[in-house]
Amino acid sequence: MPRAAVLSGLGAWVPPGTLTNEKLAAELDTSDEWIRTRTGIGRRHIISAGMCTSDLAVEAGRRALESAGAATVDYLLLATTTPDRLCPATGPEVATRLGLGTIPAFDLSAVCSGFLYGLQTGRALVLAGLAESVLVVGAESFSTLVDPEDRNTRPIFGDGAGAVVLRAGHSDEPGALRAVNVHSDGSLAELITVAGGGARARAAGDDRPAHIRMRGRSTFMAAVSHMEAVTRQTVDEVGWQLADVDRVVGHQANVRILHSLVKHLGLPESAAIVHLHAVGNTAAASIPLALHHGVTTGRLGVGHRVVTPAFGAGATWGAAALVWPDVKVLPG
Ligand code: COA
Repeated sequence: MPRAAVLSGLGAWVPPGTLTNEKLAAELDTSDEWIRTRTGIGRRHIISAGMCTSDLAVEAGRRALESAGAATVDYLLLATTTPDRLCPATGPEVATRLGLGTIPAFDLSAVCSGFLYGLQTGRALVLAGLAESVLVVGAESFSTLVDPEDRNTRPIFGDGAGAVVLRAGHSDEPGALRAVNVHSDGSLAELITVAGGGARARAAGDDRPAHIRMRGRSTFMAAVSHMEAVTRQTVDEVGWQLADVDRVVGHQANVRILHSLVKHLGLPESAAIVHLHAVGNTAAASIPLALHHGVTTGRLGVGHRVVTPAFGAGATWGAAALVWPDVKVLPG
């Protein structure tokens, strides 16, 4: 049986602080009703002073290792767009705090598709025989990137982390990543940008703050079409029919995107796992947090055929397909 990267552990963690729609409506020209009906979001978790992305990553990573029953791994990949600092990468600090010794650890930046890029990279290391196990973490503190006065972005994003352990196994096992596809198109870079804070701004003497800006409507349309295409590609590659898919655990950006996606795929709304009401859009943490929500609520069960499409800034997009394994998870 061919070698495969097998999902063997899952962890999630969100910081305790919450920001409700009501609180936002007291500070911005918006309302609970607008945010709920246009996005599906009810609240988001926000880091408190002194906390940062590494803290979230360590909590989720520890839970994933415990879920897998693994004391160590060969690599740690941290998907994040909100590293603690521009330099050094946050991954090594997370590995050290998890007691993983001097294993290779690095950051990976693909924004809302970051977790899929992490899965693909971890899978490639396993398939190449360079690793027997990999911890893939998606962790974000997007609350540090939003302009507190921007009603277009602040209601959408939240903080959190999710992680999985991949181990070497066989392609017919539950949990085996049966297919992973990732894509990018830099011609769509202007859809979602953080103009301030990068080398381009510094070189130009531009000292605008590092705030995220999004062209919401165009991003919405691109998200639905690319997530649909990559889901079809991934399901085809595994040899499934779309009707075989039990759960779509998609990037949690907007409930209308998730419902539109399953409709385009000819699947019932109930196939979509929806978690954004409680956490908002957590970028690279979004899919592992939604997987964890699915398992802890019983909506995602052993034997389900799962596809995980995502779309994000870059533009980047991707999807993975697997049969859900019997993983024990701790509360997030
Ligand atoms: N509260 C109240 N009104 C708001 C608002 C808010 N928080 N944000 C925007 N509006 C207003 C706009 O100003 C606009 O008003 P106008 O018609 O007077 O100009 C109106 O609501 C519609 O704005 P629009 O941006 O077209 O809304 P929308 O229905 O597209 O919803 C998003 C906006 C951001 C929720 C939606 O476009 C979206 O989810 N986009 C995709 C996000 C995504 O996929 N990200 C993935 C990668 S991170």
